[in-house]
Amino acid sequence: MPRGRVLTLAVLVSAVFAAHANARFDALGSPGLGDPLFPLAGNGGYDVGHYALQLAYEPRTKVLDGSATITATARQNLARFDLDLRGFRIGSLKVDGRPAAFGRNGQELQITPAIPLKSGRQFVVNVSYSGVPSAVTDPDGSIEGWVATNDGAFVVGEPQGSPSWFPSNDNPRDKASYDISVTVPAGLTAVSNGTLVGQSTRNGRTTFAWRESFPMASYLATATLGRFVVTKGRVAGIPSYVAVDPSQVAGSAAALAQFPEIVRFLSSIYGPYPFDTVGAIIDNAPEVGYALESQTKPNFDSAPDVTTLAHEISHQWVGDSVTLTTWPDIWLHEGFATYSEWLWADHTGQFTPQAAFDYYYSLPDSNPLWSPPPGAPGDAANLFGDPVYFRGAMTLQVLRNTVGDAAFFRILRRWATQYRYGNVTTAQFIALAQQESHMDLGAMFHRWLYEPGKPAV
Ligand code: ARG
Ligand code: ZN
Repeated sequence: MPRGRVLTLAVLVSAVFAAHANARFDALGSPGLGDPLFPLAGNGGYDVGHYALQLAYEPRTKVLDGSATITATARQNLARFDLDLRGFRIGSLKVDGRPAAFGRNGQELQITPAIPLKSGRQFVVNVSYSGVPSAVTDPDGSIEGWVATNDGAFVVGEPQGSPSWFPSNDNPRDKASYDISVTVPAGLTAVSNGTLVGQSTRNGRTTFAWRESFPMASYLATATLGRFVVTKGRVAGIPSYVAVDPSQVAGSAAALAQFPEIVRFLSSIYGPYPFDTVGAIIDNAPEVGYALESQTKPNFDSAPDVTTLAHEISHQWVGDSVTLTTWPDIWLHEGFATYSEWLWADHTGQFTPQAAFDYYYSLPDSNPLWSPPPGAPGDAANLFGDPVYFRGAMTLQVLRNTVGDAAFFRILRRWATQYRYGNVTTAQFIALAQQESHMDLGAMFHRWLYEPGKPAV
């Protein structure tokens, strides 16, 4: 179905439910949050505060057994609400300790609590589930979610992989804290977000208990497991946990040696590091083909070069802490992370952001870099395309040249601090840039973010 029609339908459906939300006690939470690219991702009618996931994985059979305890607050009266989950057999499903009726429809797990929920009420959902997880294939052909590897699993969620391993309100707008515990055969290591709060081995199985108490979008959760060489310590004064697949140790050494300086340098640009742990997961998952900024533990499918490491660490500020509201604004993550690479290159004496800009600007009109424009990728298949990364970063260089260095770096820092742990839009970035520079930047941003084809300078 053309995207326009899906969107219209989703907007209509949520508008109808919203109109009744306060008046009726039998209201249904909408099946999606109306994202223009992923209309069914996330669910209306409630906010999650905390996920407690208990997972056990057996790499030999590839079976994942999960129990998810989700604490949420109803934002309308709810006779029924949805979570997002792909696949699995549901063993039991309870709301506030009482068995609840449920149905499945694609990624929608539709839950009818025994007693309808009143608006404003906190409630607890417990789902036990089991099965062999399947990776999700995106419109651009890339894979994500729970991706089995030869010694475990590489687990990455952007943009729609989380429902392949836990039931969630899978939308970046509903951040929550997480407790994720993973039980694996002894000898393997399971790595998740935040702090390792427990590790114990019994009967040949080791349980790793992780806690991320900072707000986290569901697509940034990970539970990557396998054989890892673990280094715990401090990086730039922050507790760190770095897990490297034995085959990638030698190749990672040069980049990891720069880790402290990357954190220090990016802190000088964007302000203090937003979370209380840093780390990295460097696996051997060649079929994935990309790295992802999982919160506090960016995932790498192989040994990263220092540029890729700097890119994913910069996302901790721009992407993980300051997060888009809807997916078409993805340049707010990837354009900024690419610009962070250019700043790092400048800092280490390789090339200036202006030189990077000049190189890309020399590419002909026919180059895929120019269309679709970064602020309107238009289709989920273009979410991680060249315009979002490179023309997005070029937009920041044009901003810098327009407002001058002093205002530009004030803008970057204020962006990362004012909206820390929140959700943002491109309009908010433009407004902040105008406030900080006292200039009218509307035409410039429009040309660089929204007009197809190579912009004139
Ligand atoms: N955000 C990742 C990066 O650091 C890219 C993720 C790509 N995901 C995907 N499903 N293709 O650039
Ligand atoms: Zn990125």
